[in-house]
Amino acid sequence: MNPLVDKAQRLVSRKIFVKPEIYARELQQIFARSWLFIGHESQIPNSGDYITNYMGEDPVIMWRDGAGKIRVFLNSCRHRGMKVCRTDAGNARQFRCSFHGWTYGTDGTLLAVPYQEQAYGKTLDRNDWGLREVPKVQNYGGFIFASWDAGADSLDQYLGDARWYFDITIERSIGGIEFIRGHQRYKATANWKLMAENFCGDAYHLPYSHGSVYKLDIRQISPVTYTSAPILHTVSLDNGHGMTSLAFDNERYETDLKLAEEMGKEEADYIRACRARLAARLDDSRASIFALGFGNLFPNFAFNNFSALRPMGFYQAHPRAAHQIEMWQWCGVDRDAPASIKEMIRVDFARTQAASGLAAQDDAENFEQVTEATSGAVGQDLQFNYQMGLEQAPTTRPGVAGRISPYFSENNQMNFYSHWSDLMEREAS
Ligand code: FES
Ligand code: FE
Repeated sequence: MNPLVDKAQRLVSRKIFVKPEIYARELQQIFARSWLFIGHESQIPNSGDYITNYMGEDPVIMWRDGAGKIRVFLNSCRHRGMKVCRTDAGNARQFRCSFHGWTYGTDGTLLAVPYQEQAYGKTLDRNDWGLREVPKVQNYGGFIFASWDAGADSLDQYLGDARWYFDITIERSIGGIEFIRGHQRYKATANWKLMAENFCGDAYHLPYSHGSVYKLDIRQISPVTYTSAPILHTVSLDNGHGMTSLAFDNERYETDLKLAEEMGKEEADYIRACRARLAARLDDSRASIFALGFGNLFPNFAFNNFSALRPMGFYQAHPRAAHQIEMWQWCGVDRDAPASIKEMIRVDFARTQAASGLAAQDDAENFEQVTEATSGAVGQDLQFNYQMGLEQAPTTRPGVAGRISPYFSENNQMNFYSHWSDLMEREAS
């Protein structure tokens, strides 16, 4: 029988996108053990502020406690499992479960139990029944990640060289990154890995799947597009991370500057200030990249940012079933960008990435139809082909992190599935 991931032939069994038993193992081996994105610190600036999210299928609350510390809890009452927080975001000093009224504080402590004396006598010790807290929570440049695995590597080790690149997005913002309030969500009948692998390296689909977007020519800005493929690159990183559409020699900065000059002096000065800030904070290689392109941090936290004039899009493909994802997406902006640019970014994000957005519809349609045509008894017996780049060993570039491949390559997808396979086969915890 073929292995699920054939690393040598670069073939992947279609079963991993449809089989419920493989999906169940992913929840244990990947989502319960990896570092997962939870939210951005700008979403909860004050004590008591909270947002809700998911880690795999587990709902969680990210809550800033009374001392200002960010904590993450399973959003599930310890009595009978009800969600204790039923809203997306807000400020609360405590959560009272709406089922029977058990009440928890910002540090997760079970503060009160209705009729405790009458109902339980002396048998219930509230100290034993606080909210289940996620043991590992770390902040990288404002991005909060958490892991259920108390023995997991540090977040720095987990991100590895992805930090080298991600720092460009973090450091370019003059006033720091701010997540625009709220987030967009939509469901798709597709496996979560289709979304993750698409972000981590599929530049090949852009000219075809999104051809209509480019033909419309309605975007204010089209910095370096697929038509410039020879100057763009794909980078594979350890732990399954990957990014693509990278230009190394100031191409994105120069395009941004030209476009900003057409908008006005304030906008052009802003782009120059972003470049100067990167040069002051990072090495020249990174300042010259200026904006990343797009990528995926394993397993399911993706991003795109092609320009300082366009959204910092952050995406999470939450697994819901072997055949189901729920896409959550946030738009990041530089807190101190000119108002004209902030507004342009807000409109661009909604127009492009919302459920009815120009690009998101193309992608969701692909993923749903791939899933349908892969799920049948015959369809799931075949393999997907990731042989693009088979004969091109990745290269390196002085002063630049990661293994570099041409723009059209499937090295990142294979990097993703090789890591996925290693995690699936490791011993269960
Ligand atoms: Fe929460 Fe009963 S389920 S108090
Ligand atoms: Fe796409």
